[in-house]
Parts: sequence; C-alpha cells; structure tokens
Amino acid sequence: MTNPSRPLRVICVVGARPNFMKIAPLMRVFRQSPERFDVRLVHTGQHYDAAMKDAFFRQLDIPEPDVDLGVGSGSHAVQTAEIMRRFEPVVDDVAPDAVLVVGDVNSTIACALVAKKKGVDVIHVEAGLRSYDRQMPEEINRVLTDQISDLLFTTEADAAENLQREGIAADSVHFVGNVMIDTLMYQQQRAVPAEQTLGSIAGFGDVIDNFGVLTLHRPSNVDDPKVLKRLIETLADLSQQVPLVFPVHPRTRGRINDSGLLPVIERGRIALVEPLGYLELLGLISRARVVLTDSGGLQEETTAVGVPCITLRENTERPITVECGTNTVVGTDAAAIRECFDAVVENGGKRGRVPELWDGHAAERIADTLLAHYRERIA
Ligand code: UD1
Repeated sequence: MTNPSRPLRVICVVGARPNFMKIAPLMRVFRQSPERFDVRLVHTGQHYDAAMKDAFFRQLDIPEPDVDLGVGSGSHAVQTAEIMRRFEPVVDDVAPDAVLVVGDVNSTIACALVAKKKGVDVIHVEAGLRSYDRQMPEEINRVLTDQISDLLFTTEADAAENLQREGIAADSVHFVGNVMIDTLMYQQQRAVPAEQTLGSIAGFGDVIDNFGVLTLHRPSNVDDPKVLKRLIETLADLSQQVPLVFPVHPRTRGRINDSGLLPVIERGRIALVEPLGYLELLGLISRARVVLTDSGGLQEETTAVGVPCITLRENTERPITVECGTNTVVGTDAAAIRECFDAVVENGGKRGRVPELWDGHAAERIADTLLAHYRERIA
C-alpha cells in the first residue's frame, strides 16, 4: 500500500484489565507505521490498582498512556458519566479521525458515545458478541456501542449475524479474528512457567500435574450472597480432588470477606492469591487440567491453548468457544458443575480446535482495513 499524505489520527481507548490484552497488538502494529498512523492512547483509569493495570502495561509492552483520565471506581452511572466528562476535552484537543474502543466495559461505551456525538467515527474491536442476557452490564455496553460504531471488527462468524439482526449495515462489519489471541500467541514464549508460580504458593509446590485455575467476578455470581455461597462451597469440595489457584478480583475479595466465606475456602484446597499478571496467568492456564471461570477472556484463551474450560454462567457471548473450542457452559448449579468437572477429570474434557482466524494476525488485518476505509480522507 502506498503511503498516504498524512497519517490517520486515532485515539485508542483502554479502561479495564481485559482491554489491555486487546489494545497491545494494535498499538504495536500502529506504532510500526508512524507515516500511516498517528495514535494516542487514552487510559480512562477504570482499573487503577497496580495488579489490575501496571503489571499489564509492563508485561504487554503497552506504551504509557498519552492521557490518563483517572476516573477510578463508582456506580455504573457515575463511572460512565465521569469518563464521558473527562474524555470530551481530549477529543477536542486531539481532533482525531476516529476513536477506537475495544471490548464491552464501561469505558468502551462512554468513549464511543462522546466521539459519535461530536461527529467523530467510532471503531469497535470485538463487535457483535451477544449473550442475549440484558442483566449483564457488558451486554448493554456491547449493544449500544455497536449501534453507534462506523467500523465493526468481529472475532467470530456468529457476530455478523447478531449485528445484521440489529440492523447494522453489513459493509461496516469486518471479520478479522481475535486481537486477544494475537497477544496470547505473541507472549506464549514469555509466559512464566506454571512451576514457578505454583512454587510461590504455600502447599502448591507439588501440584504441577493436578491443578486447576478459578476466577470469579461477574456481579451475577459474586454480588448475590446465595449464589456466591453455593459456588464457593461447590468449588471448595471439588478442590479436594484438583487443587485450585484462585486469583481474586478486588470486588470478589470484598464479597467473600463480607459473606464470611473464608473458612469454607480454607476447608478446601483453594489458594486465594492476588490478581496475577498476564504472563503468570498464561503460564498457569496452559498447564492446568481445567479452568473454572465466569470471565469472557478466559473462555477464549483456554480454547486457544486447548485446555478445558467450565464456564460458571448461564450463557456466553462467545459461542465459538463452545461450538469448536474447549468450553462448556454449566451455570451455577452444584450438580451441573460437579458433573462437568468429573467428566474433565475422567477423560480430559473437550478437545476442541482453534477457531478460524485466531492466528495472531488480527491487529494487522484491522490496520489494513482502516487504511483502505479511510484512504480518501488521508490521501
Ligand atoms: C470490569 C468490567 C468487566 C470486566 C472486568 C474485568 C464493566 C461494566 N465491567 O468489571 O466487564 O470483565 O472489569 O476485570 O466495565 N477495583 C479495585 N481496583 C481496581 C479496579 C476495581 O479495587 O483497579 C474494585 C473497586 O472496588 C470497584 C470494583 O473493583 O468498585 C469493580 O470495578 P469496576 O471497574 O467497576 O468493574 P469490574 O467488576 O472490575
């Protein structure tokens, strides 16, 4: 492709932990071609703890943000409003051709709304995923962001059908693959060996051939004390068979403390540890017998590394991980979790294969599509 007369000016937005792995490969590709892309990185500050942010920027080689909005935590309304208020002057100042948002967190919808109402194009990476569960805050963020996006990049074929059903023009939708898997493939060689991480956890030094990884943070699982109690009791029971490493999200830790569930955890073989860095978690999941989670990202990452995933939710917005990957969606019923877990322990669980275009090159496809789409504007 010939060089344009000026670079495309894009503001890339990150806010919360799952955004960091998605933006890393895009920043790398954009920064390789400064004659084509003039990119500013804005961090909203939705996630701010060192374990939730700094470790990821460092490990994933994400450049320091040009702007940190420093919004911090709050109710959904407060957080979303505060991001919008602080993002608007940045858009005025930079005057970008487009604002690029990833995923489905509050920062995604907040910055998309600001941009679109100022007449700036919105690019949504990871568009079209649907759980069809509007109790999930992320589902609201997905549907609304897609409605106001000018270019929509999808990770799986189903997403285009979801978007078509919602009246989004097919020519604005591009199936490019999965930027989060770009990061996984790029970083795989650097993953911290599981032995090393397990060795730093008391009582877990000898479980390399028999351990699982557990994560929980969805409001539907951790904010309802009855559901949380049922889950923790079930998981503590399973951990007698397969010890579980449980890196705890701050909101989950708070709920566990409030509900007095620590003694239940202590009765099982569950290691409650601080949120892990990307390279530590990647090393662990790659060697785990099983991952039990309510995270969206881990459903995809386990499929990419071929490790069975038991999803502790009633639905998934990532059906490709079930159809062709290693994921099984079981919900939160104790008997259903136990049944799936026993099958994994007995026969190794679903084999699965890596979905189409999850090949490490999604960010490059996005960059090429952007240059083609905006070629007249920057010619
Ligand atoms: C957010 C995303 C969710 C994503 C998750 C990954 C939305 C609606 N949700 O949920 O999709 O899967 O991130 O982690 O955007 N906290 C800290 N330190 C931090 C960040 C948060 O202590 O750095 C605590 C605060 O008490 C805060 C709570 O965690 O109130 C929740 O954080 P918030 O960003 O509101 O939502 P998450 O549950 O992390």
